[in-house]
This record gives sequence, C-alpha cells and structure tokens, in this order.
Amino acid sequence: MAKPSVFPTKTIRGLLNDKPAADPVTIRGWIRSVRQQKQLSFANINDGSNLKGIQAILTGSDASKLSTGACVELKGMLVASPGKEQSQELQVSEIKVLGECDNSYPLQKKRHSLEFMRSINHLRARGNTGSAVLRMRNAASEGIQRFFASEEFIQVHTPLLTSSDCEGAGEVFGITPSDFFKQPVYLTVSGQLHAEIMATAMGRVYTFGPVFRAEPSLTSRHLAEFWMVEAEMTFLDNLDQLLDVTEANVQETTRHVLDRCADDMAFFNQWVDKSLLARLEKSIQQPFVRMSYTEAVDVLQRAKHTFQFPTTWGSSLQSEHERYLASAACCDRPVFVTDYPAELKPFYMRANDADDGRTVACFDLLMPGIGELVGGSMREERHDVLLGKMKHAGMKMDDYQWYLDLRKYGSAPHGGYGIGFERLMLWLTGLDNVREVVPVPRWVGHCRY
Ligand code: 4AD
Repeated sequence: MAKPSVFPTKTIRGLLNDKPAADPVTIRGWIRSVRQQKQLSFANINDGSNLKGIQAILTGSDASKLSTGACVELKGMLVASPGKEQSQELQVSEIKVLGECDNSYPLQKKRHSLEFMRSINHLRARGNTGSAVLRMRNAASEGIQRFFASEEFIQVHTPLLTSSDCEGAGEVFGITPSDFFKQPVYLTVSGQLHAEIMATAMGRVYTFGPVFRAEPSLTSRHLAEFWMVEAEMTFLDNLDQLLDVTEANVQETTRHVLDRCADDMAFFNQWVDKSLLARLEKSIQQPFVRMSYTEAVDVLQRAKHTFQFPTTWGSSLQSEHERYLASAACCDRPVFVTDYPAELKPFYMRANDADDGRTVACFDLLMPGIGELVGGSMREERHDVLLGKMKHAGMKMDDYQWYLDLRKYGSAPHGGYGIGFERLMLWLTGLDNVREVVPVPRWVGHCRY
C-alpha cells in the first residue's frame, strides 16, 4: 500500500489522479486566468504539478477578489467537469488570497514568445513551456537514475573544482583568488577523469552534475554551464558494448519521459514540433545506426548536398555534417559515428591497434535535428601507450601522475560516455535552443540573476 504523505494537502496533479473525493479539498496555486461572468466565474489555477492546472468555478462576486498571477488557497468540492479539457473541476466555497499580484504582472492568457519569456526568467516557470520543461527535466533525470540502478551502477559524486582540464581544449573557467589553493584551479569541464578513479575500484559508476565551459560559441547548442550525465565502467570488452549501454540509456530515458509526461509531450507535439512524438517512438523501437568516421566521411563526400565546409578524412565533422548524417543520410534516426582520427580527440581515448593508432575507439551519438548528444570512448588502459599520448599532447606529467597510477595498479579495460542533459532535453521537447530548456541559462556574455 502507498505510504501516506507527510503533507496535509495534495498537489493538483495528485488530486486529479485520485478517485473523486467525497469531502471538500484544498488547493493552493497561482491564478493563470480569470473569466468573470454574471452568475458564475471561472479561474484556472496552476501549482506546477501538471500542465493544465485545474478549473475553479466561483459564484457571485467571489471572482472579483482574484487577479491573474495572485497566489491563492481555494476550498471546495471536486465535481465531474462537463468540459473536455479535464475530468474534474473545483466548485469553490472558500477563497483566501495568499499573495496578491501587482497589476504590472507581465503574463497574460495568451502565447508569449520564447524570447520574451527568457527576458523574464524569474517568471518563466509560471508559463506552460517553462513549467513543462521543468517537469520533463525531472522525469528525464528520474529515467536516467532508474536506468543506471537497473544496470547496477553506483552513483558517485565528482568534484566541481579541479586542477585538470579533462578535454584538453583549454575552455576552462579559472578560480580566483588564485592564491587560495596555491596552484591553478578551474571549474570542471567533465567529471570523467574522477569517475575513472571510482570505476577502477567500483566497476560501474555514473555521475550527474553541472559542468562549465568557457566556450565563446554563440550557438543554439552551447551553454557555459550545463549538466552532464557521465557513465564510466570497467570490464567492457569492446566499443560495441559501450554503444549498447549508451543506446539503452537514451532509449529507456526517452520511454520513461513519454510515459511519465504524456500531457507535457503532447503540448510540445502540438505547439513546437508536430513530428516529435512519432520521431521519439520510432527512435525507441529501432536500434540506432552505427557507422565509422571513415564511412561517414565517405557518405558526406558522395552526398548530393552542398555543404559550407568540405569533408576530408582527418577534419572535424561540422554541425552541418552531423545534422545531415542523422537526418538525410540515416532517415531521421540517431546514428553513432565511431573511430575518429586520434588527432581530433583527447589524450585519454584508447588507440585502435588495427590501424596503428591512427584512429581511437570512440563515438559521438548524433541525433536528428540536433547533432551531437553524447560523446564517449574506451579509455587507454595501457600505461606506456597512455604515457606516450600524454607526452605527445604536451601535458605536465606531475599533474596527472595519479591518472597514470590507475594504469599501474591493476589496470582494467574500461570506457564511458557523457550525455549533454540540455541537448537531451532538446531531443525530448522538440525545442530548438538549449537556453529554453535550462531554468536559468548561462552563455557567453549572459549571467543574469
Ligand atoms: O563530447 P564531450 O566534450 O565529452 C566529454 O566531456 C567526455 N569527457 C564525456 C565522457 O566521456 N564522460 O561532451 C559530452 C556532451 C556532448 O556530446 C554534448 O551533448 C554536451 O556534452 N556538451 C554541451 N552541451 C551544452 N553546452 C555545451 N557547451 C556543451 N559542450 C558539450
């Protein structure tokens, strides 16, 4: 039997999911709209627990106490609703205004643009898109944790302050005052290296936290602060196994959000992208496509499509190439591109012996309409090969002695990946800009609040 709640009142979602209550109920929330008529008035109250809130029916002059944006407590009976929108509505017998709303309140019962809503970020969650995004972030996070728990991963917590630059791209935010640690310290760009410490003792681990990149890219895919899901596991036999885990992680999370947030997803399907639900369903029914970087370059070179940047073996795939691969080339299916040239990738990726280390055992997962969602690789577990790669990358050995130790003391084949959580939210909502799917976004030139 479900344990009784510690709260005396239920959320609107909780009440509507229950059997119709025989006794009066109390709801608390914010007024989204009020429509006053002579005999009866209608107010929509939302407490963030569901998309549509609840319709409250008021009699006489009661509605004159209510204004859009105010926070209220309403008591009354839940009755069957004649409307199609929801099964029950509240016939109000008592009204208490908990917080009045000034008439400068900027939100009205109409569709506001995403840009406008972003300009009033502190009120964004009072709108449909902002609140649906938050519920879906919660469901996605829940789905991810369930996946890992079902596969016997242990959640670990990696530091945010670090002396290393995992990706070696130099896109780190430094910490001041610099004399505090008596050495240069940065905000982490990835928890991977620390997750490797734990995976090489605990087997399968994951971490899920914020990371920071001083990337000046002004694109719809880049934030300066974003959340990353990072899995790291030992005893992987090959890259294909790593792709299997990644595919299951993305598919099971998508399934969980589809089940948990059906109303929110129907809302995005209606207002943002009419093919969203069909695309997501398709993506969980079929395996993702797999192709090597070399094959991808071949596909791009043969494509009857004009790209701004030509592709040659050894050059990075640009976002136009990534989008083409997942959309036109693979019929709108997610695609793993594997085995990139070593020179394009960070020092820690395992060299492929079959081509004398020209390529590394790694992948990017590209999603239709989005581009890269996940990056991952087998890690170089051979001490001397890793040492050679670190020297080649010009790294300071003293700073990474601990990382080499992991290969000296019982090294194990291992690998892992990182899912950009905001890009996952683009995939799940159909929205087009990562700034819409994080509650308080930070990007180059922008750090309000
Ligand atoms: O491909 P990346 O750089 O991989 C790593 O950091 C690895 N150390 C992860 C690992 O193997 N544990 O980043 C992983 C993902 C990308 O695929 C992308 O989805 C997202 O993080 N990402 C960003 N998301 C928003 N804004 C940015 N500036 C991002 N940079 C990367």
